[in-house]
Amino acid sequence: MARVKYASDFDKSVLLNNFDARGWVQVTPDDDWNFYWAGVHNIRNIFGVETGFRMGDDQVINHFPNHVELTRKDLMVKNIKRYRKELEKDGSQLAEKDETGRFVHLDFIPLTFMLPADYNLFVEEFRKNPNTTWIMKPCGKARGIGIFLVNKLSQLKKWSRDGKGNSFVAPTAKETYVISKYIDNPLLIGGKKFDLRLYVLVTSFRPLKCYMYKLGFCRFCTVKYNASVNELDNMFVHLTNVSIQKQGEDYNAVHGGKWTVENLRLFLEGTRGKEVSDKLFDEINWLTVHSLKAVAGVISNDRHCFECYGYDIIIDDNLKPWLIEVNASPSLTSTTSSDRIMKYKLISDVINIVIPPGELPDVRWCKVPAKEHYGNFYLLYDEDLAQADLLNQEIKVRAGAGNAMVRGARDLRKPSQATWK
Ligand SMILES: Nc1ncnc2c1ncn2[C@@H]1O[C@H](COP(=O)(O)OP(=O)(O)O)[C@@H](O)[C@H]1O
Ligand SMILES: [Mg+2]
Repeated sequence: MARVKYASDFDKSVLLNNFDARGWVQVTPDDDWNFYWAGVHNIRNIFGVETGFRMGDDQVINHFPNHVELTRKDLMVKNIKRYRKELEKDGSQLAEKDETGRFVHLDFIPLTFMLPADYNLFVEEFRKNPNTTWIMKPCGKARGIGIFLVNKLSQLKKWSRDGKGNSFVAPTAKETYVISKYIDNPLLIGGKKFDLRLYVLVTSFRPLKCYMYKLGFCRFCTVKYNASVNELDNMFVHLTNVSIQKQGEDYNAVHGGKWTVENLRLFLEGTRGKEVSDKLFDEINWLTVHSLKAVAGVISNDRHCFECYGYDIIIDDNLKPWLIEVNASPSLTSTTSSDRIMKYKLISDVINIVIPPGELPDVRWCKVPAKEHYGNFYLLYDEDLAQADLLNQEIKVRAGAGNAMVRGARDLRKPSQATWK
């Protein structure tokens, strides 16, 4: 058994218990580690040009250096918009639009503007649809902090032309906001809004190799949903972040306001039928793959890196999934005992995919683990295995009965590639 040397910026038990169970030895980030679970704040320094640090073939780390292209709210939107434009320019069928100008296959993020940069465009849109509710989010914060709903232009004075938006100083990430169309018709269960937290592991962007974790969960609000204007500033109604809901009087510490995705699936099959429920999950896979493809060209695809993203997805009452944001460092705090077990398994399964069990990491390998090491992940997309014209086939499949895009991609796995070396 190889004794992997690990470093960690976190002392979370779901991480440390996993490392201990494997008999790994802890070292400091300055030592010769094989596996480093780093905080996002550190990753830039580790890859910093100034440090001149180069990793060895036996070193892997849990972030890509410029993951912000996907995980900062404004950059994600910018990249997805660019991706759609590029496909359109190439005449791809993927960029097909309907008569109202909406992308038929790639309309999976709510309409979004950057503030202050797009203030005028936003005002134009606001005036066209004055009854729309918007959600304003600071790009440099997370866990629901600094978010508010907007239904009057006067709420945005600070960002208007007379406010600080007019200054010539380029705003920093901390001062940059995105304002998105608020999904005001969320699917409700028991009258309550929820969103999905799904885990997506990426081991390579070029070629794209990504895995979806089967044990994602729903995060429920503690109070009933109410879209009325009087409730617009009640964050217990509108924000599903656990860190917000936990502060509510009605927070239930036993279930933590969480439901497994499997439960959701059974519920939807029972209440809406299997076909629409399968379609919803296929669409979630679809949007996940395309959000990753949208950034694949701009991420520094360092072979030492892998990343386990936390996807936030809202389902509306037409069962259409919307991508809300992608987190580079999804919470590893456990709120309940089943939460702890699920997160422990998550880390265990991530490790089994990125390091061949019982061995040291070796980035010279092609990073395609044997299927028996997938654990609770399934292969979502492997570009190597996708045929050249797969995208076009996907469109046909998607347009026809049931979207089998991802299943199709999985079926294309060649047996010879199902091993480590
Ligand atoms: N466009 C939207 N429509 C409806 N609800 C939203 C929208 N954007 C965000 N939310 C709600 O607000 C929460 C926090 O937003 P998010 O973008 O995930 O920011 P944070 O980084 O603070 O978690 C989401 O989990 C969701 O419940
Ligand atoms: Mg979030």
